[in-house]
Amino acid sequence: MADAAQVSRRLDKRPDMVVHETDPYNAEPPRGALAEAPLTALDAFYVRNHGPVPEAGAEWRVRVDGLVERPLELSVDELRERFGARREIVTLQCAGNRRAGLQEVRQIPGEAPWGPGATGTAEWTGASLADVLAAAGLEAEAGHVEFVGADTSPEADPPEPFGASIPRRKALFGEVLLAWEMNGHPLRPAHGAPLRAIVPGYIGARSVKWLRRVHARATPSENFFQARTYRLLPADADADAGLRGEGVALGAVGVNADFLTPADGSRVRAGPLEVAGYAFCGDDRHIVRVDVSSDGGRRWCQARLLDPASRWAWRRWRARVEVPVGEVELVARAWDSAAATQPDDPAQLWNPKGYVNNSWARLRLTAR
Ligand code: MTE
Repeated sequence: MADAAQVSRRLDKRPDMVVHETDPYNAEPPRGALAEAPLTALDAFYVRNHGPVPEAGAEWRVRVDGLVERPLELSVDELRERFGARREIVTLQCAGNRRAGLQEVRQIPGEAPWGPGATGTAEWTGASLADVLAAAGLEAEAGHVEFVGADTSPEADPPEPFGASIPRRKALFGEVLLAWEMNGHPLRPAHGAPLRAIVPGYIGARSVKWLRRVHARATPSENFFQARTYRLLPADADADAGLRGEGVALGAVGVNADFLTPADGSRVRAGPLEVAGYAFCGDDRHIVRVDVSSDGGRRWCQARLLDPASRWAWRRWRARVEVPVGEVELVARAWDSAAATQPDDPAQLWNPKGYVNNSWARLRLTAR
């Protein structure tokens, strides 16, 4: 296996990325890197790939077809010229973020033990999907909009390009982008160059990279990654049985939070301690509060929410907690605008593919 730090460097990523796989490259930053700024640096942004990064030639076109009156075929320049550039600050979060917490409950074979770094926030620039669909004339029967990438994933059975779909209602939100820039720079190959979908508030899997086709359909995508995986299965389901359509296709991200600093397992001085983290939830909800406890949740103090509230982005937070001498576990939970909060125990959430672990954040420290 190639040296993980070398592969990270070659892909313009920090050499200390936590690499789960080098081929395809799957990596997350050390959690502290996400605490540094409201927008995640490009070299620290996690990468989740299901197959090899495809070649993006100058002749790249995206096709808009299916249940539309006027199919389109557009280069990135044509998209920019016809529909203009819209900028949105959006947090992407993989459905597998924090899976390691579920794997402590029970094994999840074949799935990477992602920590809390399979998430990041960037300013994305692109054309509004709603404008593109209006130009194509979305037909009334089009209930779903499918995105298809150019990468063929060997994980799919049989192998097929990565794809996903979102309901019509979501596709017509102006915020869904066909994006060509990330933090003011052209998309890098690992993040979907030259064009990707950005679906704010939905699990990262719906933000299809290396976008080749936008396909209006009556029903949700039959793609392996929509119909077979990225679905929430009941705890007693057999994930390998591979039943299409079993469970629930994941869409909007539920309320979630984790610690970013200090690092898990740190030695700290007993007394007042500054801790920091992030909190996020998707769709039409937003984060209203984050609580931190040093006594297992009997008493809580409120964290300070940082960064101006932005419709589709996380809130980073900071709190000062009193840490007693000895082995201490801090816990944190966020609340959203629908008064939903996080369950305490990952065992309540365990599912065969290890998705959407939003149990309380836990930080183990030794205080002297
Ligand atoms: N798009 C394609 N074409 N192929 C992929 O493997 N991975 C998806 C999504 N889009 C994927 C894709 C998943 S699971 C996630 S979480 C996000 O891309 C990750 O985006 P990033 O690698 O830019 O962070």
